[in-house]
Amino acid sequence: MSADPSIICPDHGSDLTSLLEERLPADVIRCIRAVCECSELTGIPACLVGGSVRDLLLGRRVVDLDVVVEGDGIAFAQELAGIGERELVPYSRFGTAFVMLPPGIKVDIATARRESYPEPGLLPEVEPASLHEDLLRRDFTINSMAIRLGPTGFGTFIDQHGGCGDLRAGIIRVLHEGSFRDDPTRILRAIRFRARLRYTLDVSTVDLLVQSVESGMLDEVSRQRIREEIVAILTEDDAADSLDTLSDMGVWDSLFKYDLTLPEEVKALFRRGDGALQWYRSLAQEHDFNEVERWVVRWLLLAGDSSADTFSRLSNDFHMGQAVSQAAGERAERYPRAHTILFDDSHVDSHGSSRRTDSTLYWTLTLLGPVSIVLLAGEGSQEVRTLLEDYFTRLKDIEPFVDGNDLKSMHLPEGPRIGEILREVFSAQIDGEVRNRTEALDLARHLARPSGKGR
Ligand code: CTP
Repeated sequence: MSADPSIICPDHGSDLTSLLEERLPADVIRCIRAVCECSELTGIPACLVGGSVRDLLLGRRVVDLDVVVEGDGIAFAQELAGIGERELVPYSRFGTAFVMLPPGIKVDIATARRESYPEPGLLPEVEPASLHEDLLRRDFTINSMAIRLGPTGFGTFIDQHGGCGDLRAGIIRVLHEGSFRDDPTRILRAIRFRARLRYTLDVSTVDLLVQSVESGMLDEVSRQRIREEIVAILTEDDAADSLDTLSDMGVWDSLFKYDLTLPEEVKALFRRGDGALQWYRSLAQEHDFNEVERWVVRWLLLAGDSSADTFSRLSNDFHMGQAVSQAAGERAERYPRAHTILFDDSHVDSHGSSRRTDSTLYWTLTLLGPVSIVLLAGEGSQEVRTLLEDYFTRLKDIEPFVDGNDLKSMHLPEGPRIGEILREVFSAQIDGEVRNRTEALDLARHLARPSGKGR
């Protein structure tokens, strides 16, 4: 049993008006009042459902609102957007839409519906239904509670499936036996909620989950949808726990038949990754760098001992996106080269001074994207981070004294030699061997002579 005093477990039918007002920030309450007003105006019954209710009872932060209406969800959302004079984004296939209400709170509006699944893993066929049926189709008891918002009975708590009892007992339980068959991505959701809330999976739910995995249900789901769930898992604080469970229950192997064995010590690996990301983000604030997402770093960390080629293929097949494919591509050559330059002590001579030149550092790191930089920082000591910072603060934005047009005006024929000379001159500039444009041009002229190869 969970002893957490912030968990409130009201009876079905209780009035939760004061709880809403006590626990939710004023902005969120204003949005709830707007939904209530809309329900009164249109006469369409509306309820707060799902994660919003769960998190309210748990005393966790409620960020966005999930609303279900017994009637036309899109019409309701249009009316709500009118009240708030806000943007509406409809998604008509399921009669759902969302409205952004100030100050950036997303209100998801869905038509109460019943779902039937033509095949496991496919998106469902939907028809309008009562709130009761809508709650019945949901994944877990803890996500099947609702609070009425209008047009009457504001604040009435609806808990027909023992959601609150399971919330207090700390149990993730499917609402019905067909839950994983209806939507196998719930296998991943169950494991994610278990880790996030530090709950246990109900025994029958575990049986159903393992049977579903063994019967290959996850193969029926599109890789795009699997990707979304993996991203959600890797974004959470307790991702390493989820990965342990995915592995123990055979889900990981069933998903990734690519010889992608989970590395040992995922927890320690992620801790280092988070530390490096924090380091990168503080640098990024000062220097206007591209944002790096936590899940991307963690996904790359999971590559472990698998070959760079396998990992790239896997990442492409699961549509992991541009940041991942860039870093996965760098894993083969550029990353190991940078690793050697940064970590290899043979760059330090017998007097303890570094022979690692600024230009070597520059050319090695300039070929790497931000994710690889975070990974390098995660592997290294403070000394390595200092080198990386040095690159960002001192070297990265140096403007070359000479460019291709300067070389053309020296009547150098088009061809690869132009690039080689530019690189040599720029290296000399980075290393402080040429100090101004005149010296750089002199060096370029010297190198451009037929006998001028090398300095
Ligand atoms: N839901 C479901 N089956 C799914 C996905 C969602 O039954 N495969 C239902 C659940 O009732 C869930 C609600 O839709 O609570 C909203 O889904 P979502 O926003 O994905 O999840 P949340 O529960 O709000 O969780 P999170 O805190 O991660 O946003």
